[in-house]
Amino acid sequence: MSDRSRTPAPVEASAVRKTTKVAVVGAGAVGSTMAYATLMRGSARTVALFDINKAKVEAEALDLAHGIQFMPMAEVIGSDDVAVCADADVIMVTAGAKQKPGQSRIDLAEATIGLVSKILPELQAVAPDAMYVMVTNPVDIVTYAALKISGLPPTQLFGSGTVLDSSRLRYLIAQHCGVAVQNVHAYMAGEHGDSEIPLWSSATIGGVPLLDWEGIDGRGPLTVQARDEIAHEVINSAYRIIEGKGATNYAVALAGSRIIEAVLNDEHRVLPVSTLLDDYYGISDICLSVPSIVGRHGCTDRLAVPLSPLEIRGLQHSAASLKDVARKFGF
Ligand code: LAC
Repeated sequence: MSDRSRTPAPVEASAVRKTTKVAVVGAGAVGSTMAYATLMRGSARTVALFDINKAKVEAEALDLAHGIQFMPMAEVIGSDDVAVCADADVIMVTAGAKQKPGQSRIDLAEATIGLVSKILPELQAVAPDAMYVMVTNPVDIVTYAALKISGLPPTQLFGSGTVLDSSRLRYLIAQHCGVAVQNVHAYMAGEHGDSEIPLWSSATIGGVPLLDWEGIDGRGPLTVQARDEIAHEVINSAYRIIEGKGATNYAVALAGSRIIEAVLNDEHRVLPVSTLLDDYYGISDICLSVPSIVGRHGCTDRLAVPLSPLEIRGLQHSAASLKDVARKFGF
């Protein structure tokens, strides 16, 4: 017989572990897919979707919620009220103008900066301590502008940068060399855009420098021509996919969920996120992607990756082209 006289002591509020919450701003193709990827990977206990389009955001959240049985336990909420983002640990900003076929990411700058200028103060009011990750394009310019607008430190606000581009690079290297992509370590650095550069000199396959790779299964080394073709394909991937299906969403959403996990799990993961540089190979006061440490406290360190003289020049060119754009918009 249970001892009904004993009533359990009340649980101290501080003892109740705060569950993890991610808010995704923008319920378009990228935002909705990012919410889906985050849920399927069980990256966060609560996923909140925010969009000014009430019907759309509620429908996306409901459609996701109907699948909760098939994913790690989670709660999905969606609203056109920014309060849905309250107390989020990470806020992924995906809302912005959509890149049309033939348009460059830079062409979206004016519309997206206007949107971010409006939404950031509202988000900060409900989630002052969140890590803010800009995803919307042109992500480097938007990240730089968002730092100025929000007044947040560059540890707490950064951009998805070339995490996606590096994934594309690794995929293509793996395809060319006949190895598992998980054993390829290589980065695209600089702008998430036309001026980005591959860091061939530090790329490795299973610990073997890529430039020393002699090939397996009868495949030869990665020739200069093959490397140039791969770099060209990475830089032009988005244009090709947008031409075919109108937008990119899967890989960028997965890249975003990887960033979310690095923050929520305090992974101290090396990710090429877009971050404010301060005398990085002589580059300062602009946001672009270099391999950085991402954990619970955001983007805390930039790795001094050895760069070839060509790579240093490429990175400085990327920084200069981004600074030109930032100045054009008064930042
Ligand atoms: C792309 C978009 C996210 O590169 O910029 O697919």
